[in-house]
Amino acid sequence: MRLIFQGSLNEVPLILDTERLRLRPITSKDTGDLLLYHSDPAVVRYIPWTVRSSAEVETAIANYATLPMALNHEGDSIVLGWELKSSGKVIGQSNASLVSLVNQTADVGWVTSRGFWRQGYAYEASAAFIDFVFSQAVVRRIVANIDTRNPESARLAEKLKMRLEGEFRQSIFTKGEWCDMWQYAVLREEINQ
Ligand SMILES: CC(C)(COP(=O)(O)OP(=O)(O)OC[C@H]1O[C@@H](n2cnc3c(N)ncnc32)[C@H](O)[C@@H]1OP(=O)(O)O)[C@@H](O)C(=O)NCCC(=O)NCCS
Repeated sequence: MRLIFQGSLNEVPLILDTERLRLRPITSKDTGDLLLYHSDPAVVRYIPWTVRSSAEVETAIANYATLPMALNHEGDSIVLGWELKSSGKVIGQSNASLVSLVNQTADVGWVTSRGFWRQGYAYEASAAFIDFVFSQAVVRRIVANIDTRNPESARLAEKLKMRLEGEFRQSIFTKGEWCDMWQYAVLREEINQ
């Protein structure tokens, strides 16, 4: 088992413990840690947001505070920061949204602060996070939409047992250009095989 739930799923705050990380809600105290990677062009290159200022990070954190932290209704979202236990710093984050209630499908995403790339943190956090998302009663399928110019993220999806299900040419217009996207997916019944 890759994670430990602390408290019941209905309690706030939601905490997921892994070996090196504590996944937990992000607060205004984390602004400086988030600014390091939210303001990094290399980090945000293939994710929806643009490079953020400190004020924009504060706004993002204020928005995170409004999220239900559970997936019950279409559009519900969860964002958890990855606190490095050894330092107390937030070095990345996971997100999930319930994109379709009738189809019981959530999408997930992951971001690691650049100084911590290639140290297994995204895998450690995302494996625990995916287990948690599948613990939500309405989720039976998890997808990740990944820009085809981001093979590092695709390899991570594969390591997380996600399957490449298709390539969608010029399916997203973002940051001034049309982007080709891969869709990766995994079913609840597949994750523990
Ligand atoms: C993609 C990203 C989250 C990976 O984070 P990470 O913490 O470096 O990933 P990990 O160290 O846990 O690596 C897990 C696996 O991902 C793959 N991977 C990660 N970085 C890679 C790289 N530079 N080249 C090739 N594969 C890579 C590998 O399969 C790796 O497993 P391995 O170490 O056993 O080979 C990170 O590069 C990132 O934050 N990128 C910017 C944000 C982003 O694009 N997010 C995804 C949007 S879809």
